[in-house]
Amino acid sequence: MNPLLPSLQPYPFERLKQLFASVTPNAAYRPISLGIGEPRHATPQLVLDALAGATNELSMYPPTVGSPVLRRACAGWVERRYRASLDPVTQILPVNGSREALFAFAQTVVDARAAKATVICPNPFYQIYEGAALLAGAQPYYAPSDPSRNYNINWDVIPGPVWATTQLVYVCSPGNPTGAVMPMTDWEKLFELSTRYGFVIASDECYSEIYFRDDPPLGGLEAAVKVGLADFRNLVVFTSLSKRSNVPGMRSGFVAGDARILKQFLLYRTYHGCAMSGMVQAASVAAWNDEAHVVANRDLYREKFAAVTPMLAEVLDLRLPDAAFYLWASVPGGDDEGFARDLLAQYNVTVLPGSYLARRAHGHNPGAGRIRMALVAETAECVEAARRIVAFVKGATS
Ligand SMILES: Cc1ncc(COP(=O)(O)O)c(C=O)c1O
Repeated sequence: MNPLLPSLQPYPFERLKQLFASVTPNAAYRPISLGIGEPRHATPQLVLDALAGATNELSMYPPTVGSPVLRRACAGWVERRYRASLDPVTQILPVNGSREALFAFAQTVVDARAAKATVICPNPFYQIYEGAALLAGAQPYYAPSDPSRNYNINWDVIPGPVWATTQLVYVCSPGNPTGAVMPMTDWEKLFELSTRYGFVIASDECYSEIYFRDDPPLGGLEAAVKVGLADFRNLVVFTSLSKRSNVPGMRSGFVAGDARILKQFLLYRTYHGCAMSGMVQAASVAAWNDEAHVVANRDLYREKFAAVTPMLAEVLDLRLPDAAFYLWASVPGGDDEGFARDLLAQYNVTVLPGSYLARRAHGHNPGAGRIRMALVAETAECVEAARRIVAFVKGATS
C-alpha cells in the first residue's frame, strides 16, 4: 500500500456524521441542510439539450486535450470575463471538474525528492489541497485567513525559509468557506514571491460567477495581465461549470495559464486517463458560450442572500461575503461543534462546524468558533432555516 495514504484526514462530512451519530433531530421540524455546498438550482435547458444532442460522441474515445471547439469556447469566456487573451491550443486544458484537477495538479508539479517540499494551503480550506499535497509527498503549510483582512491571507507573515521550500501555493478566491476575494495588492505580492522563489500558483476560482458586489471577482489571469505577466508564468487557474451553470454532476471545468506547466499536466493526464467525455465537452461548449443563465443564477443567489443575511446577522456575527454561496459566522460561546449538534437536536437544521474545515496550526484552528452555512436550497427553505437558527440562538442565550 502507498504509505502516504494514512496521512489523509477524514473528510469534514465524515466528522459531521460522527458528531451527529448520537443526536436525535427534533421530528417536529422537517430536516433542512445547510451543510453540503452542492448547487441545487436547476440545470439550464441549453445544457441538457446539448448533452442530448451529442450522444454520437459515445462511440469514440475523446482526446485528453479536449476538442478545439471546447478550448476555443473556454478561451472566449476568459477573454470576455477577464480581458486575458489565451492560446486555446497551449494555454487551456479541459478537466472533469476542478476537484480532480486540483488534486492531480500537485502530483504533476511537486518534486518530493527536494528537502522539505512544501505546499501552501489556505486555512480554512477546501480539503482536496491538503490531500493532494500529502499524496504528492509534500508537507502542507497552513496559511491562516486573516479576519482583519477580509479573511485574506497575509503573505508577509509566512517566513522566508517556508517560501524557500515552497513548490506550490493553492489560492482559493472566492474562498470556501469565507467568500473572500483576493485583492490586486495581494496578487502583486504573490506574483513577486513566485518570481523570487520559483513556486507555482494554483488558483481555484470555481465560485467566481456567484458574487454580491457590482464588480465581478478579480481572477488570477486578469491580475497577471495587470502586472504584465503576459505568459502567465507559474500561474494556473482552475475553473468549473459546477456552480456557474448548476451542473455539479456533469464534471466539467478547465485549467488555464502557463503553457509550460500545462504541457506537463497534459502528459500526466494522458497516462492518468481522465479525458472528458465528448458528450460533456459538447454540453460544456453550450454552457461557456452562454451568459444569460449565469446572470439568472446569480440573481437567485443575490435574492436569497439579501433575504437571509440580515435575519442571521441579528443573532450571529456575520456579513454578506464578497462571493460564493456560504455564510461564515462566529457562534455565540465559540463552540462550533456544540452549536451544530444542538441546532440539529432542537431545530433539525444542519450546519458545518468551522473547525472541520481548518487545521490547528501556529497555535490555533482558524475555523474554530465558526460555522459554515451553504445557501444552496431555494430561498424559502433558506429563510425557514434562518428563522429556526434565530429562534435557536435566542432560546440558547435567553
Ligand atoms: C473551493 C472548491 N474548489 C473546488 C471544488 C470542486 O468543484 P468541482 O469539482 O465541481 O468543479 C469545490 C466544490 O465544492 C470547492 O468548494
